[in-house]
Amino acid sequence: MKKKLIRSTSEHFEKILQKTPDYIFLSPGRINIIGEHIDYNDGFVMPAAINKYICFAVSKNEDSRCMLIAKDLNETYEFDLKDELKPVDKMWANYILGVFHHLKNKGSIMGGFDVVFSSTIPMGAGLSSSAALECGIGYAMNALFDLGLTKEEIALIGQKAEHTFAGVNCGIMDQFASVFGEKNSVIKLDCTTLEYKYYKADFKKYSLLLLDSNVKHTHLTSGYNVRRQEVELGLAIIKQHFPEVRTFRNCTENMVLELKDVLGETVFRRCQFVVKEIQRVLDAAEALSNSDFKTLGRLMSETHQGLSKDYEVSCDEIDFLVDAVSSEKSVLGARMMGGGFGGCSINLVEKGAENELIERVSKQYRDAFGIELKPYKIKISKGTTLYKE
Ligand code: GLA
Repeated sequence: MKKKLIRSTSEHFEKILQKTPDYIFLSPGRINIIGEHIDYNDGFVMPAAINKYICFAVSKNEDSRCMLIAKDLNETYEFDLKDELKPVDKMWANYILGVFHHLKNKGSIMGGFDVVFSSTIPMGAGLSSSAALECGIGYAMNALFDLGLTKEEIALIGQKAEHTFAGVNCGIMDQFASVFGEKNSVIKLDCTTLEYKYYKADFKKYSLLLLDSNVKHTHLTSGYNVRRQEVELGLAIIKQHFPEVRTFRNCTENMVLELKDVLGETVFRRCQFVVKEIQRVLDAAEALSNSDFKTLGRLMSETHQGLSKDYEVSCDEIDFLVDAVSSEKSVLGARMMGGGFGGCSINLVEKGAENELIERVSKQYRDAFGIELKPYKIKISKGTTLYKE
């Protein structure tokens, strides 16, 4: 599948630009085992890059003109590096323009180039196709123009692009996972310090199965940003009462419980979720190291309950998919994954049981919502790379 993507992207480049591309880059999507909505709350997350990619075929050109060709959408966008860059009404172009805007702000000197890109990361499925786009472009510019950026800087620029050119006030998880992914490794990332540790992604008798609900509710952007405001407000209140608290990391569940009335029902539930989820990631990392998959699965399912009932970022379709496997012996845990309001559920499933499960849940889902479920059996793969020079 990777080879096919690379071939078709290169061929498209050759067809349109009448030359072979000088470089091929691959930038992956990501999953997240556990630690949802806490990257912007100073928590820990456990993402991994997967074998679904955006492929970039790139060559420099002789001027300051940049030609972006989105093969899958059959669209192009052209801009000049000398222009002041602002968000435009083509969303996909914004992720790229945002990266250029921040690279220019940093003083990076780049020249013109032509790029064709194509993707096997489904859009709107919560697998971070936007982070793959941002980081792939950042990585490519770094390589083409010797910008001397670290991997961390590439991820941070991608995140800034998302904030300023896409309007999503996201955390760092997606970009970090896309850039720092390693084959067969899960990353435990401390979102306060950006320190990270790889854990062997060896699930023994089990595998990770994604079930794509095929829905994306429009309140993803607004709902996401509102959650951030709610927890920021919550933390400010907690700090007033407990001056020793600096971030959610040193805030205990008891403190949140004690302030229940002051915080108000909604903000209380949001903060309680955050504090519990931070602990769950630590427990999950330990469970993974001990190959204790029962515990890992239980923690994933607890995360889902929190995301659905307390953080309220799930939706009927995803809740249905999680419920549908909850009493299944072959499934140790299931939860919504990513920003929410649609996208995928991630399931820890006994190897060999996947197909039957997919068949059964697909039928139930079709009967309930009239929507086709899309299953993805994924592999944990390497982060953004230069494939060919
Ligand atoms: C989106 C954001 C991430 C993270 C997740 C939820 O994917 O881009 O930063 O907050 O949602 O965990």
